[in-house]
Amino acid sequence: MTPRTEEAPVTFSAMWRDLTPVGRDGKSGGYHRFAWTREDHTLREWFEGEARRRGLDVTVDRVGNQWAWWGDPDGALAAGRPGIVTGSHLDSVPDGGAFDGPLGVVSAFAALDALRDRGFEPDRPIGIVNFVDEEGARFGVACAGSRVLTGAMTADRARSLTDSDGLSMAEALTAAGRSAEDLGPDSETVRRIGTFVELHVEQGRHLSALDENVPVAVGSDIWPHGRWRIRTLGEANHAGTTRLEDREDAMLGFAAAVIAARRAAESHGCVATVGKVAVTPGGVNAIPSEVTGWLDARGADEAAVRAVVADVTEVVDDFGGLVVEDSWTGSTPFDPGLARRIATRLGGIPVIGTGAGHDAGILANAGVPTAMLFVRNPTGISHSPEEFATSEDCLAGVDALASVLTDLAGGGAPS
Ligand code: GLV
Ligand code: MN
Ligand code: MN
Repeated sequence: MTPRTEEAPVTFSAMWRDLTPVGRDGKSGGYHRFAWTREDHTLREWFEGEARRRGLDVTVDRVGNQWAWWGDPDGALAAGRPGIVTGSHLDSVPDGGAFDGPLGVVSAFAALDALRDRGFEPDRPIGIVNFVDEEGARFGVACAGSRVLTGAMTADRARSLTDSDGLSMAEALTAAGRSAEDLGPDSETVRRIGTFVELHVEQGRHLSALDENVPVAVGSDIWPHGRWRIRTLGEANHAGTTRLEDREDAMLGFAAAVIAARRAAESHGCVATVGKVAVTPGGVNAIPSEVTGWLDARGADEAAVRAVVADVTEVVDDFGGLVVEDSWTGSTPFDPGLARRIATRLGGIPVIGTGAGHDAGILANAGVPTAMLFVRNPTGISHSPEEFATSEDCLAGVDALASVLTDLAGGGAPS
């Protein structure tokens, strides 16, 4: 690994300090940063400010993803040398951790600073991206920004997704001052990405469990994963006066589905989670007339994940309910040659897979040569305030990213 620069710690910690208060819950310490909200607006302003401070050109694509370029991506593309892009997302899950997403964006700016401090002049332009709505916490579909960008999700579908208040993405975009009509795939933006490298906090304990001190790994692949909406129906009635035999309780079918998901995950060697539920009418003393819940299922094998959903669907069918697919991402290998090149460049660091979804996976499936770097997380916990990486490891991540960008963007320091 290349040695750490002296400047990186100052730059990194100053940016981190600026981001820390945005969307932070004073009690839990977790983050609530959802797409097209006030918090998101503040984060987007922060991104633009960091880019402009460095003299980078900022563009916003048809979806709202922000791009900051060092160099001319179109000139380079015309010359057959498309850019190298790094970055991640700034949004969070409800009560999420500080690192999932922001670590990749802050590290991207810090790595760019490190390259400039060394006098590095890239042969290819370097871009930094902030993908909008990666977690799908508000509208239910993860990686919405990169899905619409690459055409993996249609603009019509995205516009019609609704949040828990019934507000559509189209309405949220309009409220945020953007045109919902502009939403759509943006091949011009995608073409500028010659290679994409996303740095991310590790979301398990692979690196911490190693005997040696290894703060950074390279990604090999993303497990197949998806989200399904489970809906069961009943009849609202009084919780005290309705005899058990007279009830049509939507919660019973839903509860059976949750248990079925756990059993199916065990028997098919997958994982399954129901982490979000909406109950109508939602009164303690009212029998539920409708329950909607979201099933998240993942595993190493696509057929096994599909088998989990089939088992759950069978149970929901028995109760007269419905299971609808919200999103699906098949098995996603990252470019193996690129992963090998990066692992070798960084001193033979481990190459590991992940069960988490990322915009990097969407780009890889769209045919963009893509890689990921993971920074050690000693808690192994993610999507929670307990998510963590030490400052030292974060800076090792910046060094690793700077080294990878140096390699991929070519050029070199003037002699
Ligand atoms: C994104 O973080 C996901 O894996 O759900
Ligand atoms: Mn996440
Ligand atoms: Mn993430």
